[in-house]
Amino acid sequence: MTLGLKVLAAVVTVLRVVFAGQVSYNEQYRPQYHFSPPENWMNDPNGLVYHNGVYHLFYQYNPGGITWGNMSWGHATSSDLTHWKQQPIALLARGFPDNVTEMFFSGSAVVDADNTSGFGENGRIPLVAMYTSNYIVTQTLPSGKTVQANQQAQSIAYSLDDGMTWTTYDVANPVILQPPAAYSDQILNFRDPNVFWHSPTEKWVVVLSLAELHKILVYTSDDLKNWVFESEFGPVNAIGGVWECPNLFPLVVDGKKSSLKWVLMIGLNPGGPPGTVGSGSQYIVGDFNGTTFTADPDNVYSETTPPPSDSVVFADFEGTGTFADLDWTPTGDLVGQSPVNGTLANQQPVTGYLGKRLVNTYLNGDATTGNLTSQSFTISKRYINFLIGGGRDLENTAMYLKVNGQTVRSATGADSENLLWQSWDVGALQNQNAIIEIVDTATGGWGHILVDEISFSNSIARSQVANWVDMGPDFYAAQGYNGLSSNERVVIGWMNNWQYGQTIPTSPWRSAMSVPRRLSLTTIGGKPTLVQNPTENWKSIVPANSIVHDVWHSVNGNKLLGSVGKSFRVDLTFSDRPSAASGASSQFGIIVRATADFSQQTRVGYDFATKNMFVDRTQSGDVSFDSTFADIYYSPLTANNGKITMSIYVDWSSVEVFGGQGETTLTTQIFPADSATYAQIFSTGVATNDVDVRIYKVSSTW
Ligand SMILES: *[C@@H]1O[C@H](CO)[C@@H](O)[C@H](O)[C@H]1NC(C)=O
Ligand SMILES: *[C@@H]1O[C@H](CO)[C@@H](O)[C@H](O)[C@H]1NC(C)=O
Ligand SMILES: *[C@@H]1O[C@H](CO)[C@@H](O)[C@H](O)[C@H]1NC(C)=O
Ligand SMILES: *[C@@H]1O[C@H](CO)[C@@H](O)[C@H](O)[C@H]1NC(C)=O
Ligand SMILES: *[C@@H]1O[C@H](CO)[C@@H](O)[C@H](O)[C@H]1NC(C)=O
Ligand SMILES: *[C@@H]1O[C@H](CO)[C@@H](O)[C@H](O)[C@H]1NC(C)=O
Repeated sequence: MTLGLKVLAAVVTVLRVVFAGQVSYNEQYRPQYHFSPPENWMNDPNGLVYHNGVYHLFYQYNPGGITWGNMSWGHATSSDLTHWKQQPIALLARGFPDNVTEMFFSGSAVVDADNTSGFGENGRIPLVAMYTSNYIVTQTLPSGKTVQANQQAQSIAYSLDDGMTWTTYDVANPVILQPPAAYSDQILNFRDPNVFWHSPTEKWVVVLSLAELHKILVYTSDDLKNWVFESEFGPVNAIGGVWECPNLFPLVVDGKKSSLKWVLMIGLNPGGPPGTVGSGSQYIVGDFNGTTFTADPDNVYSETTPPPSDSVVFADFEGTGTFADLDWTPTGDLVGQSPVNGTLANQQPVTGYLGKRLVNTYLNGDATTGNLTSQSFTISKRYINFLIGGGRDLENTAMYLKVNGQTVRSATGADSENLLWQSWDVGALQNQNAIIEIVDTATGGWGHILVDEISFSNSIARSQVANWVDMGPDFYAAQGYNGLSSNERVVIGWMNNWQYGQTIPTSPWRSAMSVPRRLSLTTIGGKPTLVQNPTENWKSIVPANSIVHDVWHSVNGNKLLGSVGKSFRVDLTFSDRPSAASGASSQFGIIVRATADFSQQTRVGYDFATKNMFVDRTQSGDVSFDSTFADIYYSPLTANNGKITMSIYVDWSSVEVFGGQGETTLTTQIFPADSATYAQIFSTGVATNDVDVRIYKVSSTW
């Protein structure tokens, strides 16, 4: 009787929560073909499972607010990964709304077709979800287990009606109460179970993260209830923030069934890709035998990446002498000074340099100013590569390449004590005499510059600290579908960032999901590389005929395309080309979501000098809600047979770019005015050849 009343009360709450308010899916910034909840806060995708022809999308959801809190599992279903139907909340924060005692954090779900759990009844196959219980207060649970305030432990729930309603397994939850004894001090940071069936060993496997320690733990089970700790992995590669939301899955390489690799995908917050602020995702390719993940050796990177093998070093700042001894002419406070090691007093450790010494102008702290000028040299290779760090200020903490007294190339750090490779494409400056000048005229915050290993090469040098799933700021906590055929992998990511996610200017909802992406592994640059493409299904909403199809032998300057709308796809191909001799920008691309006067615009394109595609959202519309939002994001992309290919998916508040075959992606949110419907092609520096632009209108899925 009491129980019956409670159940009834819960159902009433759910209905009120889901159907409160009228939403049109036509509000300003409302994604038209990306999933977003009707109202309230959403973050990570959870429990992605395909069963009986239905794709389930559960997600972290606050039924009581538009920022993070009251974490529950929201639910939507789809038959084509494109059109979504909102469903009642699957797991409502326990005690909501008045006295929440347990929140349901991220997790995953499987179809227990063989009824290993014994949850099946009357021939109904159970779906089993595994999630992190976050306990608000110290309490003794119905299972008799005692948990502390803020403890994170792993629990399960099951559904006997194909995922529509769920029962938590209260007689035994949490089924993994705490991490192994060696990590018993980590009970507040133990989360995000990703469970899957491993057929070779006929076991359930779950991977979990010890967030603060940058470790992934592997457990196995026969019945989803009793779990055995097997192994741990990490830390490796990117560790600039907590590790969350691990996913482990197999993929064949180059479509060959005989060549199977496992991919471990891990969310980081903060510490996302270089050039972004906040959260991001990395992946590691390796092998998994049912108990242990082993990274491929060429997927584990050290802090420093060596330059290309053909490099001729111009200046490595090694030895013992002063700048003058090394043939650099110092001015200002740098007169009489020398290169230094990476551990200066009062400075965070400097990382990413090679050898023992580097240029560091943080001598008397940021107060030090002065310049260093190199001897003259003749430009003879395609690239000048160098490691650079320190302040991000092209005027005051910068390095310049000068020819005949004119600055033809420049570079700065990224407000970081970590040196990263940058390159100048000097293909158009061959046989010219040049000098390099290192300038520090800044005294305030980040008023210093770090430089090392200036070298000449015919290849571009890039720092590799991790494989990034997406180089943009807005792709996090991606999760793959369970229940698809064994070699099929489709992931959905949260298209937002913890840096500003809770202040984006949308209402009455916050956050959208990425377009579902089909993953494959393709050998690129000698390594199995993650390749992503939007799933085929959603093409149903793209009419066959393009609204723009322009072919130009050569484009120099701008070509106005007129008003093309707010939700569309652009396919762009063009020929690679050298950068301009003058050091002027050498870019080709398309401006989208521009107002008629182009005061608002989002530039999407390719930089020939650095071989990066980019999204520039500095003038994209409302950027006021976070000081880091107005920025430019880059992602490496090399030409294939001399051609660059980009597919750009534009929605009312996002731009997702897939470069090449899909081996590099850039996902960014934008918040333009409703009137920002114009588009324009641009080519800067010199002309770009063999241009083919197609724009397809995308219909609303709502
Ligand atoms: C949780 O939900 C309650 C009830 O709707 C609401 O009053 C409260 O503000 C919510 N908490 C947060 C952090 O959103
Ligand atoms: C909240 O719920 C817990 C667990 O059911 C209970 O012990 C506590 O007394 C409740 N607090 C309030 C204010 O209702
Ligand atoms: C699943 O196992 C339970 C426990 O053994 C049993 O009661 C139930 O009939 C089984 N259900 C199915 C669909 O096999
Ligand atoms: C997997 O590999 C690990 C490490 O080599 C080994 O200890 C373990 O026994 C292997 N497990 C299986 C199921 O083969
Ligand atoms: C350093 O170089 C900058 C830019 O070329 C110049 O403005 C400044 O006067 C120089 N400072 C010194 C101390 O030489
Ligand atoms: C680095 O330089 C500082 C200051 O000159 C010195 O105290 C320190 O011992 C040096 N460290 C190493 C590892 O050489």
